[in-house]
Amino acid sequence: MRTSFLPAFAAVTPVLAGFDTWSPPGPYDVRAPCPMLNTLANHGFLPHDGQDITREETENALFDALNINKTLGSFLFDFALTTNPEANATTFSLNDLGNHNILEHDASLSRSDAYYGNVLTFNQSVFDETYSYWTDETVTLQMAANARIARIKTSMATNPTYAMSDLANAFTLGESAAYVVVFGDKTTATVPRAWVKWLFQHEQLPQHLGWKRPALSFEEGDLNRFMELLQNLTAPVNETDPGCTSRTQRRRIPRSHFGF
Ligand code: HEM
Ligand SMILES: *[C@@H]1O[C@H](CO)[C@@H](O)[C@H](O)[C@H]1NC(C)=O
Ligand SMILES: *[C@@H]1O[C@H](CO)[C@@H](O)[C@H](O)[C@H]1NC(C)=O
Ligand SMILES: *[C@@H]1O[C@H](CO)[C@@H](O)[C@H](O)[C@H]1NC(C)=O
Ligand SMILES: *[C@@H]1O[C@H](CO)[C@@H](O)[C@H](O)[C@H]1NC(C)=O
Ligand SMILES: *[C@@H]1O[C@H](CO)[C@@H](O)[C@H](O)[C@H]1NC(C)=O
Repeated sequence: MRTSFLPAFAAVTPVLAGFDTWSPPGPYDVRAPCPMLNTLANHGFLPHDGQDITREETENALFDALNINKTLGSFLFDFALTTNPEANATTFSLNDLGNHNILEHDASLSRSDAYYGNVLTFNQSVFDETYSYWTDETVTLQMAANARIARIKTSMATNPTYAMSDLANAFTLGESAAYVVVFGDKTTATVPRAWVKWLFQHEQLPQHLGWKRPALSFEEGDLNRFMELLQNLTAPVNETDPGCTSRTQRRRIPRSHFGF
């Protein structure tokens, strides 16, 4: 592990990046509510300090590590920029992504709701609920749909400030699809459970468990298709469910708009 307390020293430290490099965040490094971007920073595909990330760095990191089409990478970067509070920003930092109710939302798979705690760091009890829906060694899109809706129901039932914009809802679909079909296999729409568990818990690419950079490019059309499929696999939220007690908590999950 390389740690450096002096920025001047950090500046002359050789920048190592890639599949064979990994170190956890140091004291001056920032991280996101996104387990994958944190992973890419830990590997150095993104700047290890997590700060002032450019469009080109984002496109290259997602392409080099995950074979994500650079047009899609650029599209995702535009969303990330909206979380930087500075006017006319051209970069973002990973912790900007945690600014509540821009992209960051309630009912995350591995983070506490903002009402209850830190949205940037892994929360074991939240993740335990998600994990309980991954009922086989191979996680399917149906299991991802079940986990997602369970987290939404729990959050609706317990968080008096529960909120979910249409954009946030689209992100929940995208994120749940992503761990299966971007990180896993878009041909079979499955991912080994051990890989996802490792990713969330260690924020490291599980190459020792057989993970490899996907051979097929992941395109914007794939993302839209899998988000729609995930929505199709989700039973409608039961409006009279005893967990939903107030009018705002009964708010319908949008079912008709899948893309961004
Ligand atoms: C520039 C690209 C990306 C941006 C801007 C981004 C942004 C975000 C944000 C803001 C969240 C937090 C949502 C929340 O739970 O409140 C998040 C979560 C997540 N992201 Fe990313 N992300 C990107 C790329 C990816 C990729 C490539 C993957 C592939 C696996 C991924 C997987 C996830 C997952 C699984 C979550 C859910 C974590 C949880 O609910 O605990 N993301 N992302
Ligand atoms: C990336 O996706 C765009 C459309 O979204 C497409 O025009 C382009 O050919 C793709 N690039 C590669 C390298 O596949
Ligand atoms: C941001 O851009 C707008 C429009 O180009 C400009 O009017 C404004 O002064 C800029 N703000 C800053 C802080 O640069
Ligand atoms: C983890 O999440 C649970 C459920 O939201 C919450 O009660 C707990 O305080 C969180 N823990 C931390 C350390 O934020
Ligand atoms: C989702 O369901 C709709 C309505 O049944 C259907 O038209 C659409 O093809 C489905 N989408 C996917 C990706 O399966
Ligand atoms: C919705 O939930 C209520 C209360 O648990 C139950 O009585 C009802 O049968 C459910 N309706 C559907 C369509 O599942």
